Amino acid sequence: MDKSIKNKVAFVTGAALGIGRATAILLAKKGAKVMVSDINEEEGVKTTSIINDAGGYARFFKLDVSKKDDVQKVCETIHSTEGSLDLAVNNAGIAGGIGQIHEIPFESWERMISICLSGVFYCMQEELKCMLPKGFGRIVNVSSLAGLNGLATAGDYVAAKHGVIGLTKTAALEYGAFNVRVNAVCPGFIQTAIMDDVSQEVQDYITQVRVPMKRIGTAKEVAEAIVWLLSDSSSYVNGENLLLDGGFKAG
Ligand SMILES: NC(=O)c1ccc[n+]([C@@H]2O[C@H](COP(=O)([O-])OP(=O)(O)OC[C@H]3O[C@@H](n4cnc5c(N)ncnc54)[C@H](O)[C@@H]3O)[C@@H](O)[C@H]2O)c1
Repeated sequence: MDKSIKNKVAFVTGAALGIGRATAILLAKKGAKVMVSDINEEEGVKTTSIINDAGGYARFFKLDVSKKDDVQKVCETIHSTEGSLDLAVNNAGIAGGIGQIHEIPFESWERMISICLSGVFYCMQEELKCMLPKGFGRIVNVSSLAGLNGLATAGDYVAAKHGVIGLTKTAALEYGAFNVRVNAVCPGFIQTAIMDDVSQEVQDYITQVRVPMKRIGTAKEVAEAIVWLLSDSSSYVNGENLLLDGGFKAG
């Protein structure tokens, strides 16, 4: 248990799988009431069951973060039924890597921006509306190493993830005085379903040549950092984009 997390109402998007599921489970272990949300109902309900079966408290909300009105409804429901929305992890996302900028179809660009950037914006707006009247809130947005660097053939993903860092820094400036801290994490290469789209050849290059620790990270390692940013252990951290890349960007 963590005193600063215990009994807090935590909203996690994209919590059916990967980093979101690992974060939801870790938050529950630290005593939070976890509002699991995802577009994938089957796996999202599984995350909720894992938590409840272990004696925690979790509820599932089916949500597509690219639908502004649905985001509003879910956040309002959480706020009215749980009494607050204290901690938020804006994590839902999809993989990029479709082609060079001149090749990216308009529909792919629109989908990427609507989920990975507008989805974070819609969620932040509703979360902040719950947090500001209470004078308490912690938000962690999941950006990427691609939010800090260019990445050939993933211009749409890179643009969305850079945008998430911009929103994070701006929110830190706007809400720091109101006891609402906003940070981002920037994972490098993490073993989740998103990595299934990366060829073995590229995975070998990443682990053998680019990452000094010679391995891909785990969802649990990212979850630990997210929960730290949500807790009082990071009490003076605000507007940060924390890299979790095994040293990739150091060289
Ligand atoms: N795995 C990596 O290497 C890596 C690296 C950097 C950043 N990230 C970021 O981490 C976040 C989580 O990804 P992951 O690696 O756990 O992948 P994942 O595919 O395991 O999980 C992503 C989750 O988001 C959900 N999702 C997708 N579209 C959604 C939508 N419109 N509304 C609600 N939920 C939606 C999926 O159903 C899934 O449960 C993403 O934002 C991703 O960009 C991942």
